[in-house]
Amino acid sequence: MPHSKILIAYFSRRGNNYLNGRITNLAIGNTEIVAQKIQKLMGGDLFEIKPVKQYPEDYYETIEIAKEEKRKNARPELANRLEDISSYEVVFLGYPNWWGTMPMTVFTFLESYDFSGKTIAPFCTHEGSGLGSSERDIKKLCPNANVLPGLAIRGSNVNQADKDIQNWLLKLGLLT
Ligand SMILES: Cc1cc2nc3c(=O)[nH]c(=O)nc-3n(C[C@H](O)[C@H](O)[C@H](O)COP(=O)(O)O)c2cc1C
Repeated sequence: MPHSKILIAYFSRRGNNYLNGRITNLAIGNTEIVAQKIQKLMGGDLFEIKPVKQYPEDYYETIEIAKEEKRKNARPELANRLEDISSYEVVFLGYPNWWGTMPMTVFTFLESYDFSGKTIAPFCTHEGSGLGSSERDIKKLCPNANVLPGLAIRGSNVNQADKDIQNWLLKLGLLT
C-alpha cells in the first residue's frame, strides 16, 4: 500500500522504567523511539495518545496504577483528539506492554474512533512478554478493521531495531 495516508498513533511513557533488570530514566519513551523510526521509513502523521491524568515518573507507582486500571477495565480520559481520522487508511498503533496487554488509555483511544475498513499495524515494546494479548484485544475493540500481525521489540533494543522494523514492514507489504 505505498500511497495510502498513514497515521502513527502511539502511547509512550517517559521517566523511570525497568530496563535489563535496572531502573533507568528514559528521556524519550521506548515506544516513541520506534514510532519515530516508523515515520522515517513510511512518512505519515505522528500522534501521541495522552491521558488527562499523567502517569507518575516513578516506575513502581506507575506499575500499581496500571495494575488497578487493568483490574477495573478502566478507560482513562484522553487529553487530546485527532481532528479527523476518516482519511487515514493505515494506522500504526504503538504501545508498551503493560500487564500483558496495552495500557488502558489505548483501549480508550481505540473506542473513541471508528476504525472500520482501516488497516491497523500494531507495534509494542516490552521487557519479555512480547505483544501479550494486545493483538486479540485490538481485534475485539475494532472488529471491522484489518489487524495485521504486530511487531514486538524489547525496550532495551529499540535503538538497534531499524532492521527488524524494516523487515516487518516489508513482510506486511507496507514497504516496497
Ligand atoms: C505499568 C507497567 C507495566 C509493565 N508490564 C509489563 C509486562 O507485563 N510485560 C513486559 O514484558 N513488560 C512490561 N513492562 C515494561 C514495558 O513494557 C517496557 O519497559 C516498555 O518498553 C516501555 O515503553 P515506553 O518507554 O514507551 O513507555 C511494564 C512497564 C510498566 C511501566
